[in-house]
Amino acid sequence: MLERGTGQPGAQAAAHAPATGRAPADWARLEAERGLGLYVPRGITLTRGEGAHVWDAEGRRYLDCTAAYGVASLGHCHPAVVEAISRQAATLIACSGSFGNDQRAQLYAEMAEILPPGLTRLFFCNSGAEANEAALKFARLTTGRHGVVAAMRGFHGRTAGALAATWEPKYREPFEPLLPGFKYIPYNDEAALEAAVTDEVGAVILEVIQGEGGVRPGAAEFLQAAQRLCRERGALLIADEVQSGFGRTGAFFACEGVSLQPDILTMAKGMASGFPMGAVALGERVIKPSPGQHGTTFGGAPLACAAARATLRVIKEERIPEQVARRSALFFERLRAIPSERIRDLRGRGFMIGIELTEPAAPYIAAAQARGLLALNAGANVIRLLPPLILTEDDIAFAVATLSEALCA
Ligand SMILES: Cc1ncc(COP(=O)(O)O)c(C=O)c1O
Repeated sequence: MLERGTGQPGAQAAAHAPATGRAPADWARLEAERGLGLYVPRGITLTRGEGAHVWDAEGRRYLDCTAAYGVASLGHCHPAVVEAISRQAATLIACSGSFGNDQRAQLYAEMAEILPPGLTRLFFCNSGAEANEAALKFARLTTGRHGVVAAMRGFHGRTAGALAATWEPKYREPFEPLLPGFKYIPYNDEAALEAAVTDEVGAVILEVIQGEGGVRPGAAEFLQAAQRLCRERGALLIADEVQSGFGRTGAFFACEGVSLQPDILTMAKGMASGFPMGAVALGERVIKPSPGQHGTTFGGAPLACAAARATLRVIKEERIPEQVARRSALFFERLRAIPSERIRDLRGRGFMIGIELTEPAAPYIAAAQARGLLALNAGANVIRLLPPLILTEDDIAFAVATLSEALCA
């Protein structure tokens, strides 16, 4: 096995090349020719993952502090998840919502144990955008109001409703007119929130920690004000925990850290360790929709539920949130000690970490990748780390040393 980031293309490539009959060099070309080019290419083709590491087609190993956008929460191919998916794939893959299913039923019960207080019902879907889309529909159904308050720098997905709640103009404007009635206030600005939640507003949708918008934690007072204003003025609070949920911030849900009790909580990413799955949890103030008012073909399928159940079991049994809280303190302490004048700010919670630079982050992310560390951006100037929650102290030491080299060069 090659050491992190030091490998050269060579004999190992064959070991990692799936038997497609084509050479690794063809893969990037095929993707470029046949895909839509919607994702900025990182220049490597990943073919294998295990734990916190992935390997490219040339056999180079990387510490994966992207976790596929925060999805591979237990690391890549966790044995418990692989076993659950394999067993369920040989048992029952598909089962529509009209029929009961053992996996789905048990997942409902197991989720009830970990959801923040007051959230009693669940809708299962397949992605974060879908979860937010459903949440907005449920809010409209309950309140009969069209207005929605969202935050500047907020990101909620790319389907039409979720996109209307997403602030970044370059994502949103080419597709307007989207759903009407959306207002954007500065995140953490209590006065702006107070002014925006009028009696036409049916929902306030907020990330508990903004991810895509630069890894910006919500202030407890601001989030609690949103909860209070929603209760007072007849609106519903939707907490988007698509990125921050399932242990990532050192608690099962980031809401816990700020004593927030939303009316609706959306989740996805880490929920099933990479198997596509999302969910919406609803509290007592939300009207239960009638049959047919919402639904999705694949939502709550047995295979996804089995993957989510295995993920939940490992998170609980191995006390992953507590472990994340402990190791994140070490991570932050070491990152803070990097002697680079390029670092303007370091922020986040748990394993949702943003390093804001005084200049564009892309060259430093590329330099880290060349040294065997995969990181993300969050906006132009922020390096974002969303590592698997199982990151060890050695992994943290490697990540910090590599970032330090890249940032101090
Ligand atoms: C906070 C938040 N909400 C929603 C989404 C959309 O999720 P998906 O890409 O699964 O549709 C994302 C994705 O990055 C997200 O970070």
